Amino acid sequence: MVTATGMAILLLAALAILAPSAWGLDRAEFPPGFLFGAATSAYQVEGAYLEDGKGRNNWDVFTHTHSGNILDGRNGDVAADHYHRYMEDVDIMHKLGVSSYRFSISWARILPSGRLGGVNPAGIAFYNRLIAALLQNGIEPFVTLHHFDLPQELETRYGSWLGAGIREEFDYYADVCFQAFGDRVKLWTTFNEPNLFIKHAYMLGRYPPNHCSPPFGNCNSGNSQREPYVAAHNIIMSHAAAVHNYNKNYKVKQGGSIGIIIAMKFYEPLRNTTEDILAAQRAMSFEIHWFLDPIFFGEYPKEMREMLSPNLPEFTPVEKRLLQNKVDLIGINHYTTIYAKDCIYSPCNLKTYEGNALVFATGERDGVQIGKSTALAGFYDVPEGMEKILEYVNKRYGNTPIYITENGYSQHSSNNMEDTMNDIDRVNYLRGYLSSISSALRRGANVRGYFVWSLMDNFEWLFGFTVKFGLYHVDLATQKRTPRMSAGWYRDFLTGSRPVDKVQDLRADS
Ligand code: NOJ
Repeated sequence: MVTATGMAILLLAALAILAPSAWGLDRAEFPPGFLFGAATSAYQVEGAYLEDGKGRNNWDVFTHTHSGNILDGRNGDVAADHYHRYMEDVDIMHKLGVSSYRFSISWARILPSGRLGGVNPAGIAFYNRLIAALLQNGIEPFVTLHHFDLPQELETRYGSWLGAGIREEFDYYADVCFQAFGDRVKLWTTFNEPNLFIKHAYMLGRYPPNHCSPPFGNCNSGNSQREPYVAAHNIIMSHAAAVHNYNKNYKVKQGGSIGIIIAMKFYEPLRNTTEDILAAQRAMSFEIHWFLDPIFFGEYPKEMREMLSPNLPEFTPVEKRLLQNKVDLIGINHYTTIYAKDCIYSPCNLKTYEGNALVFATGERDGVQIGKSTALAGFYDVPEGMEKILEYVNKRYGNTPIYITENGYSQHSSNNMEDTMNDIDRVNYLRGYLSSISSALRRGANVRGYFVWSLMDNFEWLFGFTVKFGLYHVDLATQKRTPRMSAGWYRDFLTGSRPVDKVQDLRADS
């Protein structure tokens, strides 16, 4: 009796025999020098939470004091223990055949209590060891300076991003990193998904420092109508200061590039009506233009100004001058496409992620889903959205080089090891999205790299360890890494080998 999973594997194997490369997709469709990698972030994988002089960060404190807010009550104290197992992880990446690894630096490991507390040499030493191991294996480091975590000291002092004093802190931290690692790190990004975490932190009250106000929620403090824009303003200016410093003092000497990473869904109108078409445009504006318009054009988008004034800060002439420092690249984290429904002319639930744009996002039209669902609500498999978002960003931001800094598929944590390891849906998802990038490239999109989220299972923020994004399964009790079928598929794609169940080789090696 062949199970459904078994049947799907047989079908894929048949396709593998017929197809010239990794199950219908060929690396030769991508230009030489295109970076293929995998991504992680410090809090989600490192663990070692107070080791070697690291300070507490906002996520350490939040997960300890609000464990009830995390689906499985867990935290990143140990996570995937990458801090101790980075050599093994680099080895895994080498076997996969990736040309780059995207990771973030833990701010509190470098500056345990911010600028005034001094640099922690052991923190610098850890990233030096990691970078050295990567380079020895021909893997290019792609570094993010801020991926949601920051020293708790700064969270307390400034309400993280609410006080303008945080700008100097970030500028200083970025400078320490450019100085320490910039001779070897050539690809820098200042922030990961500030557009997303700001909304969770200051509008919906879910991420630290858990600020919000009605109608979005009832938090102890906050103002959902104003604080997200004040925090975003400070982030945009922190980013600009770091880019200015990099361009002025490091770029020529070190020969690297710098940019920012934005979370980007693609929004389709729910109905072919003027209202929903405008709603989709508004959602794109509030999601993407919010950060990239100031960074590229020195001003917030018109729609936001019209709808949010006076809550949207103005850029002073001095700030505008700082924003003239141009970025070299845009990082896009793209996972899904979703429908946008207008909420100006028809009533909706506005206590949602898109509520501030007067938009309601839904994955269903007339009872039919926009794509196959995944373990995270609102994340659907809609590969053609990748090509659309690339075209959109290319057009609006003048063909600036783009890296897909995250794209990946979530599955529920399960005790059924066969389902867990034979992640056919992830293979299909990745193949679909990569094909969509290949098609965008043929139409002239300026994409330079792609990173699967994630190299291995990790701490998925409010979902704890209940959802899995890894090419590699991580056993939380033993920390053993085991390649899923998708790891074998990715390696076949990257190495151009014939996919005769290569995952067995990876497993035998691990
Ligand atoms: C975006 C975030 O950057 C990352 O931290 C998160 O784990 C993935 N998306 C999946 O939700």
